[in-house]
Amino acid sequence: MRKLIIDCDPGHDDAMAIMLALANPEEIDLLGIVTVAGNQTVDKVTKNALKVLTVLDRDVPVIRGADRPLVQELKTAPEAHGESGMDGPFVEESKVEESGETALSFYKRILEKEDKVTIAAIGPLTNIALLFRAYPKLKEKIECISLMGGSVYSGNITSRAEFNFYVDPEAAKIVYHSGVKLIQAGLEVTDKTAITFEEIERFKEGGRASKFVYDLFEFYTLFSKRNGLGKTPIFDACAVMYLLYPEIFDGRDYYVDIETGGELSRGMSVADLRTWSKKEPNTTVLMGADRDKFIEYFITSIKRLDT
Ligand code: BDR
Ligand code: CA
Repeated sequence: MRKLIIDCDPGHDDAMAIMLALANPEEIDLLGIVTVAGNQTVDKVTKNALKVLTVLDRDVPVIRGADRPLVQELKTAPEAHGESGMDGPFVEESKVEESGETALSFYKRILEKEDKVTIAAIGPLTNIALLFRAYPKLKEKIECISLMGGSVYSGNITSRAEFNFYVDPEAAKIVYHSGVKLIQAGLEVTDKTAITFEEIERFKEGGRASKFVYDLFEFYTLFSKRNGLGKTPIFDACAVMYLLYPEIFDGRDYYVDIETGGELSRGMSVADLRTWSKKEPNTTVLMGADRDKFIEYFITSIKRLDT
């Protein structure tokens, strides 16, 4: 059984990634959800994490993390996630309360207590960089970090940078230099596993979880539709899906570094693709996946939460 912490900024796709983890309790023991400023302010994304648990009637500790990136001002993504950070579904006020603990103290306590812990990092990497700076020894307790961020070929928020790394490039750099085993679910794999609008219709009929996901998609697909895309990536779900079904992914080991300078490329992840490179790989980069299996596993997992 994998002990997991999800570090996130919900976020429509973050919400779906959390649901995917909760739908697979035989594989994943979710120890906590730590929030970070990204898609919206930390205040809003923390409320959204609590809302997801309210919809599912689950009680997992929600711990508020960093309210801003390490160096630069926070940039949010209302164009994709709305003013609340999770626009669309109506959810009554949360019944679940956030924990009073700080993110740093939560990570320290859990990592000291558990044998090995996995982190699914699906927002800016600020909390994890702060953890590594404060307690470098605790890196040894991390099994791996399965993260959504970066890309090999193209960005989404700028032509070169993916949103999570663009928001906090310095944090991403610290994590990529940490020596911890990293799995990068970047834009290549999230594009290849995008869900079609037709497939989304399968959530229309169902219980509370399906209805919630359907309503999330109703808002979330607006961005893809506005931009003429026929499908919508469920970005963050890829990082959790890898932990459940690694065999459906095509992972390649590369040395990856993060651009923190660069007028045009700040926040870009740079994978060294040279076959003759002397750099030791530090990341397994997911370049593709069996899309049909991915979509099937995603839909059946969410449906499991209906019962
Ligand atoms: C990433 O940015 C956010 O908007 C999503 O939640 C995802 O983590 C995709 O670039
Ligand atoms: Ca996210």
